[in-house]
Amino acid sequence: MCMTVLMKALILVGGYGTRLRPLTLSVPKPLVEFANKPILLHQVEALVKAGVNHVILAVSYMSDLLEREMRVQEERLGIRISLSHEKEPLGTAGPLALARDLLTDNDEPFFVLNSDVICDFPFEDMLKFHKHHGREGTIVVTKVEEPSKYGVVMYEVESGRIHRFVEKPQVFVSNKINAGMYIFSPTMLKRIKLRPTSIEKEIFPFMAEENHLYAMELQGFWMDIGQPKDFLTGMCMYLQSVRQHTPDRLKTGPGFLGNVLVDPTAQIGENCTIGPNVTIGAGVVLEDGVRIKRCTVLKGSRVRSHSWLESCIVGWSSSVGQWVRMENVTVLGEDVIVNDELYLNGANVLPHKSITDSVPEPRIIM
Ligand code: GDD
Ligand code: MG
Repeated sequence: MCMTVLMKALILVGGYGTRLRPLTLSVPKPLVEFANKPILLHQVEALVKAGVNHVILAVSYMSDLLEREMRVQEERLGIRISLSHEKEPLGTAGPLALARDLLTDNDEPFFVLNSDVICDFPFEDMLKFHKHHGREGTIVVTKVEEPSKYGVVMYEVESGRIHRFVEKPQVFVSNKINAGMYIFSPTMLKRIKLRPTSIEKEIFPFMAEENHLYAMELQGFWMDIGQPKDFLTGMCMYLQSVRQHTPDRLKTGPGFLGNVLVDPTAQIGENCTIGPNVTIGAGVVLEDGVRIKRCTVLKGSRVRSHSWLESCIVGWSSSVGQWVRMENVTVLGEDVIVNDELYLNGANVLPHKSITDSVPEPRIIM
């Protein structure tokens, strides 16, 4: 007799990821590499480790790239990955109704995730905690400095019982927020209709009122990496966590400072100083004398000699000239060329552009 429990997770892959432009003009948000691995794979691999064997991606746009990549990952991870396509965006709750049949083929609780959060995923603890209180839902909560950008959760610390949930509050109520990770019992689906619905505004407040929602506090770091500034902050946090748990993955030696992750196929010239907090992707070339800190350089890019980069994301197959200075969350899209000796301050450069003049103040280059 087969005793394997079928465990499911639905990931809200959602919209166009406009806040992560220009990167998301080339690649759907979940496939953008964060610390040299697509954001989505950080989540899916952690789910698989916790015993999930069916992942449902709720998407509101068609993406051949996503579809192809998921077939590859299905094979590699030995799990089932379904794409649940919305004809119109259904928000953060509607997609659960659309996937109802997939989610209710057994009575096991299922995970739901926002696709843009990174942390040490606590899926096994969530399952235990959820089974222990026995109500309809568990939300993972974390503490932040600026709670107004998030969903704020008020709960009894001892039991975790949530008595109020307020999405993006105008006035301060608490600094404990929804970390965008849930586990639900299938019975909660009766609350959701097949129409555009916000789980945060239209479902959670009522579950809380009926004592059906519990909070589990997250240990360690957490970040929503859905915009460039936060993407870089999240990268710093993630690399620090790598330092704590698997320091062998980090690059050390002369020229490397702090936490630096380098793909083995990258080439690094002489007299470079790299770090702290840098991720260098596959096939990247850094020529001699490059200085780079707090940056992500994506696959196939080149930074020519003596350039200086701080707090930047260099998109795929881009080329930064010699003696360039780039800083202040400058983001280059795919296949951008930056001419020699320019200064870019907070530039947001769309794919396939050539930059021939400096950008002294933050702006979008189309
Ligand atoms: N399938 C689908 N369809 N997914 C969607 C849709 C949709 O119509 N709209 C949004 N999503 C997905 C997004 O791609 C993202 O993964 C997730 O739902 C949350 O949407 P965001 O746009 O990133 O919301 P947020 O960051 O402002 O706020 C949410 O996340 C915070 C934590 O990062 C809320 O859940 C907050 O309560 C929470 O604190
Ligand atoms: Mg978000």
